[in-house]
Amino acid sequence: QNTDDGNSMQHEYQDILVSEVADGVVTITLNRPEAYNALRTQLLSELADVLQQCSDDDSVRAVVVTGNEKVFAAGADIKEMAALDAVGVLNDPRVMHWRRIAQFPKPLVAAVNGFALGGGCELVMHADIVIAGDNAQFGQPEINLGIIPGAGGTQRLIRTVGKSMAMQLVLSGEFISAAQARDFGLVSEVTIPERSLERALELARKIATKPPIAVRQAKEVLLKAYETTLDSGLSLERKAFTLLAATEDRNEGIAAFMEKRKPNFTGK
Ligand code: CAA
Repeated sequence: QNTDDGNSMQHEYQDILVSEVADGVVTITLNRPEAYNALRTQLLSELADVLQQCSDDDSVRAVVVTGNEKVFAAGADIKEMAALDAVGVLNDPRVMHWRRIAQFPKPLVAAVNGFALGGGCELVMHADIVIAGDNAQFGQPEINLGIIPGAGGTQRLIRTVGKSMAMQLVLSGEFISAAQARDFGLVSEVTIPERSLERALELARKIATKPPIAVRQAKEVLLKAYETTLDSGLSLERKAFTLLAATEDRNEGIAAFMEKRKPNFTGK
């Protein structure tokens, strides 16, 4: 049953579960356990749609994405991919869905247990903060299928973990553990598997209490570091910093500090 009124997040999805907004946070659970959460077009399209709604809804301040206890996502749906020839790959709608996911402007926190492989590992790299259960395994095994990562894996991985480990993952198809992923900066914290989602929610709820314009500017400026020179990155930082001086939340934050009280941020 479709209860979507065009605005509400309460829509029936096939491949994901979407929570209500709670404390400014929406939780999206990848939900194709029978296919190890393989990222078929339907799943990516639903994910991109929900993120668009979260982007448009001022009550949503951060989003958590997670899988189940055994698997975050085992990559692109190989069965679906098998049907595509070169023109099919060229026109693949998943490319657009990935772009929409990458453009989500609010904080995205991933809670990863079990396998995060191929497109699953690439989805992890679309998140801003990654919490992994100690049973998590990360890898780009596309080479075993005669292909290479196709959702930003080559570019984001090398920027995240450096050349040697990126090459190791992409060329050998070997997986790395949560602890290795943390050592290489792919993951910020490792927890016991039962706690990864709660820790991700804790962080998302905390971010949800922060001034939203500053949060958004911070994400935008930080991500620019991946694709610009230090000089233009610093210039962008300066402009965003200046822009924030014109917000009510900046005055409120500073006043609250001076008056030794909690700030009340309004997003203005
Ligand atoms: N696509 C489609 N179905 C998948 C899948 C995938 N990526 N990964 C797992 N499944 C399915 C299996 O076909 C199987 O279904 P059936 O029972 O109907 O056969 C079910 O999930 C369970 O899988 P296994 O029996 O293989 O489980 P396992 O515990 O023995 O192994 C695994 C788990 C190591 C994750 C293994 O399933 C695996 O290697 N999966 C493929 C990983 C992979 O190659 N990912 C990269 C895909 S390409 C890509 O992602 C391109 C890109 O950059 C966008």
